[in-house]
Amino acid sequence: MIPLSSGSDSMNLPSLKEAGKRTKSSIPFITEEYNLPESLKKLGTGRKYFIRTYGCQMNVHDSENIKAILEMMSFEETETLENADFILLNTCAIRENAHNKMFGFLGRVKHLKETHPHIITAICGCMAQEESVVEALMKKYKWVDVIFGTHNIHRLPYIIERAMSRQEQEIEVFSKEGEVIENIPVKRDSKYKAWVNIMFGCDKFCTYCIVPYTRGKQRSRKKEFILEEVRDLVKHGYQEVTLLGQNVNAYGKDLEETSSMGELLEEVAQTGIPRIRFMTSHPWDFDDKMIDVIARYDNIMPYVHLPLQSGSNRILKLMGRRYTKEQYLELVSKLKKKIPNLALTTDIIVGFPGETEEDFEETLEVVRACEYDSAFTFIFSPREGTPAARMEDTTPMEEKNTRLYKLNELVNEYANKKNQQYLGKTVKVLIEGPSEKGNLMGYTETMKLVNVDGSSSDIGKIVDCEITDVKTWSLDGKVV
Ligand code: SAH
Ligand code: SF4
Ligand code: F3S
Repeated sequence: MIPLSSGSDSMNLPSLKEAGKRTKSSIPFITEEYNLPESLKKLGTGRKYFIRTYGCQMNVHDSENIKAILEMMSFEETETLENADFILLNTCAIRENAHNKMFGFLGRVKHLKETHPHIITAICGCMAQEESVVEALMKKYKWVDVIFGTHNIHRLPYIIERAMSRQEQEIEVFSKEGEVIENIPVKRDSKYKAWVNIMFGCDKFCTYCIVPYTRGKQRSRKKEFILEEVRDLVKHGYQEVTLLGQNVNAYGKDLEETSSMGELLEEVAQTGIPRIRFMTSHPWDFDDKMIDVIARYDNIMPYVHLPLQSGSNRILKLMGRRYTKEQYLELVSKLKKKIPNLALTTDIIVGFPGETEEDFEETLEVVRACEYDSAFTFIFSPREGTPAARMEDTTPMEEKNTRLYKLNELVNEYANKKNQQYLGKTVKVLIEGPSEKGNLMGYTETMKLVNVDGSSSDIGKIVDCEITDVKTWSLDGKVV
């Protein structure tokens, strides 16, 4: 049974100041079985839930946990908003447009709630950790019934129970460094691919980023629990795991018995799971052991997502990224030399406060040097409470848009060029299911999306596909 107040001595409303604090106190590991009192197990009987998830894979995986908890409470899932009795938005705070999307959707939910007042509406995820968001929800969205934070997921049954028995808004958001809770149940979206958390939180405090405030201190899971989870997935026929964390290369550095990502990757590879991926890698902690292990094991995919953010040393410094352009380029050349067939992707921010045309040109130069397979590109979005939000920013939005456009043109050119190299080749694809075009779809080892001509009996298998056509964002192929 998870204790009602596990690890909580904080207030129930979020505080960015509290959330940004880091102490040396050790991280609580909670390893009890997750169980609920009988009364909570029936709370959802006859009720349907709908979840909409925004943001990164960590949120996607949190939603898989939330679904399992709700089903333990006898709620049933529905994918139709209009059929739901419990509507939950699992939110992302990374950029302003993530906020806007969620508030847009909330409009639709409000409409439903007006005509069906029995519906319970809830908001969780990273936006729930933000003071100003919760203040707005308390003032202007009083009809939202429940707000709970990223540290409160395991307590959801108790939170819902309270919400059902009172009229006021129910808010439970802890702003704390966090703990590691094993055994939270999970209802996985896929039978073939699984997300596996290896660490929570982030201590890098890049100056633009809200994540260290919304997710707490860096906390690694103990290796034995991770390996146990992967072995169990192998037993159940899973073909692929993605090891998740905001900065996976720093895995284990916070543990008493320190462990490294290289060691962990090696032991996960030895479980025999056919495919291993990991994300996200911060260039700072990418050591030689890791590169060596990726190169040595065929079941560790030759795919690295390595956020650059900027190619200008001056901007990297202002961002607090702790590497220079030269160090980044050296790492990339080492990776490419040691891992044949490597696919490399990245994240880039344009229009960081004070970024000049010259700084931006340097970013383009790095893109040319790295020849990325693809890149996620963003315009800087000031996040309340972060240092970059207080930096002077004189670049007009129009100029930032122009930079983004130029950057995307260059990124697309290389993406296309990389994809062209696949034409006529035979590659391994894990077939995940039907594609939108009515055929099958899956991903190559290098994370290229392939629309595949094949039969439904191939679903869930890794098959050889010949690439017959190439687009900028996907490949077409047929099973051979
Ligand atoms: N932990 C990962 C990044 C997670 S956030 C890492 O360090 O690589 C995903 C991406 O969102 C970041 O890589 C960054 O490019 C972008 N991002 C984060 N904060 C942002 C902000 N305030 N404005 C614009 N983009 C941002
Ligand atoms: Fe944010 Fe930086 Fe942590 Fe990534 S490493 S989550 S960008 S603070
Ligand atoms: Fe968004 Fe939170 Fe992930 S801010 S990107 S959902 S960690």
